[in-house]
Amino acid sequence: MLHSFVVCCLCFWHLAVFGVDAVKTVSVMEGDSVTLQTDTELQTDDVLTWQFGDEKTPIATINSGTGSFSTSGGPNGRFRDRLKLDHQTGSLTITNITSQHAGRYQVRTKIIYRFSVTVYARLSVPVISRNSSQSSSSSYCSLVCSVVNVSHVTLSWYKGNSLLSIISVSDLSITLSLPLEVEYQEKNSYSCVVAYPFTNQTTHLNNTQHCQPCSESVHCCGVTEAVIRLVISALVGVATVAVLVYDIRPRKDEQQRRSNPHTN
Ligand SMILES: *[C@@H]1O[C@H](CO)[C@@H](O)[C@H](O)[C@H]1NC(C)=O
Ligand SMILES: *[C@@H]1O[C@H](CO)[C@@H](O)[C@H](O)[C@H]1NC(C)=O
Ligand SMILES: *[C@@H]1O[C@H](CO)[C@@H](O)[C@H](O)[C@H]1NC(C)=O
Ligand SMILES: *[C@@H]1O[C@H](CO)[C@@H](O)[C@H](O)[C@H]1NC(C)=O
Ligand SMILES: *[C@@H]1O[C@H](CO)[C@@H](O)[C@H](O)[C@H]1NC(C)=O
Repeated sequence: MLHSFVVCCLCFWHLAVFGVDAVKTVSVMEGDSVTLQTDTELQTDDVLTWQFGDEKTPIATINSGTGSFSTSGGPNGRFRDRLKLDHQTGSLTITNITSQHAGRYQVRTKIIYRFSVTVYARLSVPVISRNSSQSSSSSYCSLVCSVVNVSHVTLSWYKGNSLLSIISVSDLSITLSLPLEVEYQEKNSYSCVVAYPFTNQTTHLNNTQHCQPCSESVHCCGVTEAVIRLVISALVGVATVAVLVYDIRPRKDEQQRRSNPHTN
């Protein structure tokens, strides 16, 4: 969705002890692009080198005097075809970022610009479903909202703008889920939100879709059951046709034989 969209969320300046160097913290979503900005115009005689990681591996070099702008693959070629240099400012853009590109970056001009890049995995959209292990009631609908493969997120239910419940995980969680009970007739707008500190994904509860009251209030016809019913009707249909065909064919043959006595 947001691919190749420049994202530079949550850019905090953490002033270092001596005030000269600042580390800019940049959070970016996997697959997006990020631009590390130098806020200066290149001078005619500038020679500057972008460095990556604790080893300060050179990944891009600018020589204003000769007008040369070059980039390299970096450690294990992880930056190959992903780096772009701005010819006016010397800012560095990393495209289609992955977790391999997380870490420290720096470039020295009059001062040293330092960046700390954190790469977040894409957020999957939360899925609202019925909690089938909950015995159904005639007035309440038991729901559960879930997300898969997440870490460092919060998952919450909102009623309008007010928070109803929230859980958070820091480690990788294969499935994270949060229950909710709503009245069938309720018209309030509920939503389930999975969030990083700088972005989120929301799914709105659709009463018609997620919370259909069951006719007998005892039993809900789920998707599996609907499919089974469909398959059974189809089988019955096929069987009926087969019986009919079996029934008709011999007679037809007989008729043909009778009306055409000289065949064979
Ligand atoms: C982005 O990087 C991933 C992993 O390296 C790769 O599979 C994908 O094809 C790249 N996408 C684009 C648009 O370059
Ligand atoms: C579904 O409801 C049961 C019974 O109340 C509860 O124990 C279970 O935790 C719920 N499931 C989820 C995924 O919340
Ligand atoms: C969750 O992550 C595991 C391991 O990275 C992967 O094998 C699996 O396909 C992922 N599942 C989904 C639904 O993304
Ligand atoms: C979700 O993100 C939107 C836009 O970034 C923001 O306005 C909203 O407050 C966020 N909601 C939550 C619950 O974090
Ligand atoms: C709610 O779900 C129903 C059935 O899937 C659909 O027809 C309707 O358009 C949905 N309403 C909204 C507001 O998304």
